[in-house]
Amino acid sequence: MISGRIARPLGAWRASKVAAVKAAAAFVFLALTSACHAGLEEGRVKSQVCAACHGADGNSVLPEIPSLAGQPRQFLVTALYMFREGRRQNPMMAPFAAKLSNADLNDLAQYFSSQKLTVPTPKLDAELVIKARAVTEKNNCVACHTATLVGQQHIPRLAGQHKAYLLEQLKGFKAGTRGDFDGTMTSAAQGLAADELEMVAEYLATLVVP
Ligand code: HEC
Ligand code: HEC
Repeated sequence: MISGRIARPLGAWRASKVAAVKAAAAFVFLALTSACHAGLEEGRVKSQVCAACHGADGNSVLPEIPSLAGQPRQFLVTALYMFREGRRQNPMMAPFAAKLSNADLNDLAQYFSSQKLTVPTPKLDAELVIKARAVTEKNNCVACHTATLVGQQHIPRLAGQHKAYLLEQLKGFKAGTRGDFDGTMTSAAQGLAADELEMVAEYLATLVVP
């Protein structure tokens, strides 16, 4: 009985939080995309300037720089919009985002979202997997980022991303220094201790999704 009473409000929290976040993000996404058609070939051409850091097909080989391949299209549009408007800051990335038009955002997002993320065969530590998975379930990571952690709509894919990058972002959300579209990720990071951030980043980086 007690667990039933706890489960209902938690389920309601998830549904309402996720719905509110999706509605706000969908609004911005529609505003940015409605006037343009997204072009895969245009995106490929425009992506050449990004390759030095993010890899030719969006598979980054630099641990501090995120891979873009296989990210949800809406997330990529939102992230580029955040950089362009100065709501997310990074000295390396900012000058490249500053010059992008709404059509560029769409074309680039179309291109990178359609590339395949290549994750090296991971070495999984069974104990770490069990502990880290429990943390992602307890803290609702899976409710937003999906059960397989591949992301959806404006919510990024975490599975197979570089560990060093993920850890930096999680620390940034916890400290309130990483720009956040609507603040939901900043609040999600507050419940995690330093060793949990480390463990989760390691786990996420090794997740291979077929
Ligand atoms: C000089 C290196 C550099 C270049 C060139 C560059 N980026 Fe980035 N980009 C970065 C870094 C570093 C980050 C991570 C920033 C942070 O830590 O918040 C980033 C982050 C991003 C993100 C956010 C990804 C995520 O998972 O949150 C997107 C999207 C992105 N870049 C797209 C692009 C596109 C599109 C281009 C080309 C128009 C480009 N970048 C060019 C360095 C670069
Ligand atoms: C209420 C929904 C929600 C929950 C719960 C949530 N996230 Fe997020 N997360 C987001 C959104 C939205 C973003 C994109 C934020 C932005 O860039 O504006 C994000 C971004 C991230 C990023 C940055 C990835 C990148 O490519 O830049 C990481 C890492 C992350 N989340 C990990 C987690 C972990 C670990 C948990 C559980 C402890 C979690 N998230 C829980 C919605 C959520």
